Amino acid sequence: MILVYPGSFDPITNGHLDIITRAACICDKLIVAVGNNENKKPAFTVEERIDLIKASVGNREDIKVTGFTGLLADFAKREGARAVIKGLRAMSDFEYEFQMALLNKTLEPDLETLFMMTSVHYSYLSSSAVKEIARNGGNIDGLVPECIKDRIVEKLTCR
Ligand code: COA
Repeated sequence: MILVYPGSFDPITNGHLDIITRAACICDKLIVAVGNNENKKPAFTVEERIDLIKASVGNREDIKVTGFTGLLADFAKREGARAVIKGLRAMSDFEYEFQMALLNKTLEPDLETLFMMTSVHYSYLSSSAVKEIARNGGNIDGLVPECIKDRIVEKLTCR
């Protein structure tokens, strides 16, 4: 079974990596799909975000990292995915994710959405929080994968 894990990943955090690692255990192939939320102004280009995810995940045959444009439902269908998987951090994520799941189901009735609870250590984490801490000289140790920490700090502090 193929699952798609979509997101902005601007940038990937340890919370995302937790979902990626656990989701990969319950499918044959996980596609990490980097898209743009039209309501957000990303700090990293799609290519940069893909590179950061690849560096964090390492070389694994069961995980593909790619960008997508257009509708998630169309992308998932093209890739032959059975379901979309999303992480839920708190009840506050639920309303938005519920709406997205229903919209995607309307667009593509055969496409399911699965939710995985984020590990408790990362339930407070978001990409925006990481960016705000890094831009203001704070310590992002433990919030993002160690191997990409310096690249994130460099990008967000050199202006
Ligand atoms: N750990 C840490 N953070 C997490 C997390 C986890 N496990 N799960 C979610 N988040 C955070 C993200 O960091 C992000 O934080 P931010 O708001 O500070 O950037 C936030 O939760 C939500 O981000 P994400 O899950 O990436 O969703 P998104 O709202 O940015 O959506 C797309 C991105 C690409 C998936 C979405 O816009 C999309 O599907 N676009 C295609 C168009 C489409 O089909 N739309 C639907 C029909 S209208």
